[in-house]
Amino acid sequence: MTAPSTPFHGRSVEQQVIGQATRDGDGVKLTRVLTQAHQRRLDPFLMLDNFGSNDPNDYGGGFPDHPHRGFETVTYMIAGRMRHRDSAGHEGLLQNGGVQWMTAGRGVVHSEMPEQEEGVMEGFQLWLNLPSHQKLCPPGYQDIQSNKVPELNLTKGVKIRIISGEVQGVQGAVCRPAHLFPTQPLYLDIHFTKTTSFQQALNPEHNAFIFVYRGKVAVVSEQQETSVELHRMAILQNEGHGVEISASAGSQVLLISGKPLNEPIAQYGPFVMNTREELMQAVDDFRAGLFTP
Ligand code: FE2
Repeated sequence: MTAPSTPFHGRSVEQQVIGQATRDGDGVKLTRVLTQAHQRRLDPFLMLDNFGSNDPNDYGGGFPDHPHRGFETVTYMIAGRMRHRDSAGHEGLLQNGGVQWMTAGRGVVHSEMPEQEEGVMEGFQLWLNLPSHQKLCPPGYQDIQSNKVPELNLTKGVKIRIISGEVQGVQGAVCRPAHLFPTQPLYLDIHFTKTTSFQQALNPEHNAFIFVYRGKVAVVSEQQETSVELHRMAILQNEGHGVEISASAGSQVLLISGKPLNEPIAQYGPFVMNTREELMQAVDDFRAGLFTP
């Protein structure tokens, strides 16, 4: 006799968000999916941008030298090539399926420039906050080529690319000790190769959302099944065992979750600290050239 298995109670959709079309850097066209309005609700995540175009006028200018302090940027490239250089001496080429995880810490000046004059440039940049005790840590940088992003292929027709966190015992490309990085982000790129469904456990304390970038999906909970259309972000309620996503073949979705920091958020452009005084200090330090060795 086997014990009856506990039914999976999936989180339901709390809110759906259509991103805001904007331009950033030197005129790069993008959609700001997670904006400042959601920083509290989706703590520790500060921003998610989705860029995607086959017109070089939309991406050619790239992101010339600019500073950051107090958080991390995670760039995930779906298609295209982007060259990264920073004041800490790091340089790397980010391309199809690869990830760049940059910890700004106490400060970097960097550039992110396209290395292509035609073709499709598509990807995401996520901003992940750092806890107050890590905001002034030394800058760090990891370039993870596509073949180094762990993948899990489920026989029912789901491929999971694990950028960070852990799925079914498989560790993602970035897994760090909780005492240093308490937000413990889970960042998954889920490809439905067949029409099927997928369940992922989530800690109820962790804030979570999905973003659909191919096809469309449905989030299945006990109460309802909510359809999430292409290019929509769905914020998930903090209850239940995790999330159940059903989708038709060809759909692709990001699933992102993390433990909230519950600290004050003070942002001035590319600086994210806890107080206004710390922001003013960041501006002064940047102007004094302290971000560059
Ligand atoms: Fe940047």
